Amino acid sequence: MNSRIAGSMLRQLEPHLFSMAAISRSAATSGTVHSLLVGSTGTRAAPATWLASVRFAGTVPETVEGSEAAKKGDGTANCSAGGKKDKMLVSYWGMAPAKVVKEDGTEWKWPCFKPWDSYTSNQSIDLRKHHVPMTWGEKLAYWTVKALRVPTDIFFQRRYGYRVMMLETVAAVPGMVAGMVLHLRSLRRFEHSGGWIKALLEEAENERMHLMTFMEVTQPRWYERALVFAVQGVFFNAYFLAYILSPKLAHRMVGYLEEEAVHSYTEFLRDIDAGKIENVPAPAIAIDYWRLPPNAMLRDVVMVVRADEAHHRDVNHFASDIHFQGHELKELPAPVGYH
Ligand SMILES: [Fe+2]
Ligand SMILES: [Fe+2]
Repeated sequence: MNSRIAGSMLRQLEPHLFSMAAISRSAATSGTVHSLLVGSTGTRAAPATWLASVRFAGTVPETVEGSEAAKKGDGTANCSAGGKKDKMLVSYWGMAPAKVVKEDGTEWKWPCFKPWDSYTSNQSIDLRKHHVPMTWGEKLAYWTVKALRVPTDIFFQRRYGYRVMMLETVAAVPGMVAGMVLHLRSLRRFEHSGGWIKALLEEAENERMHLMTFMEVTQPRWYERALVFAVQGVFFNAYFLAYILSPKLAHRMVGYLEEEAVHSYTEFLRDIDAGKIENVPAPAIAIDYWRLPPNAMLRDVVMVVRADEAHHRDVNHFASDIHFQGHELKELPAPVGYH
């Protein structure tokens, strides 16, 4: 009796316990699975064919050998699957992505963002703007950021490739935390946010795209990954607490962090111009995200990222000013869709 129950449980758990490759092999030999996803040839089985066959297959992982992205090595596989280039899911849930093309008619290759997420950088933004800290709270925010720069200078010195990559892992946190807090507040109070949820989540996504871009230029080492793990655990919770206690100081601190980011990217440019950092061709993901010319170089990427940081600086100082003047963010329209 017991062995029958154990056998039954094992059969139930089998798909979860054994490897995707084993499942894929067994499915392939039984002839029940057809790919629903566009393959490297760009063709798809007729709907009647794949619907009938996958009804019996369920959600089954299939190994796709030598996909176009993996072959090209241009970062698209990294964009889609975090580096796991060779696994695709076959499913009957009808979630196949729509085919998207670029303005020139060629196929859009990035699953992690679409043409309507890309934009042309506003390079006219004032890079020197600085909010002079007036209150004790602002001075605390300012000097906290300045103090955080000391260990960063010691650890990275002038290795700006690594430095900005690590900076982006931190910079992408505040927008997500603030957007999340405002999102929950909007639900609790049955009220609009004035666009601030969208603006702050846009900032978080924009920062994450900075990170994805620099990942194509510089790969983090194991101890840098460990550092990110530890810093994120502390910083996410600290910023969440700070945002609950004082959103005006939390935004002010991010404003100062962004001022430092502008400074770091200016130093990065200086080292590229001095020949200390090689001005390599821009990653493909950056060319499409910022609509750069095909022959763009690393220097062009740093220029547009620096402009983004200046915009984040202005958004966060603006948000802090709104609070300092005794208002709530929702009372003033957020700068949505502007980078
Ligand atoms: Fe950034
Ligand atoms: Fe930023």
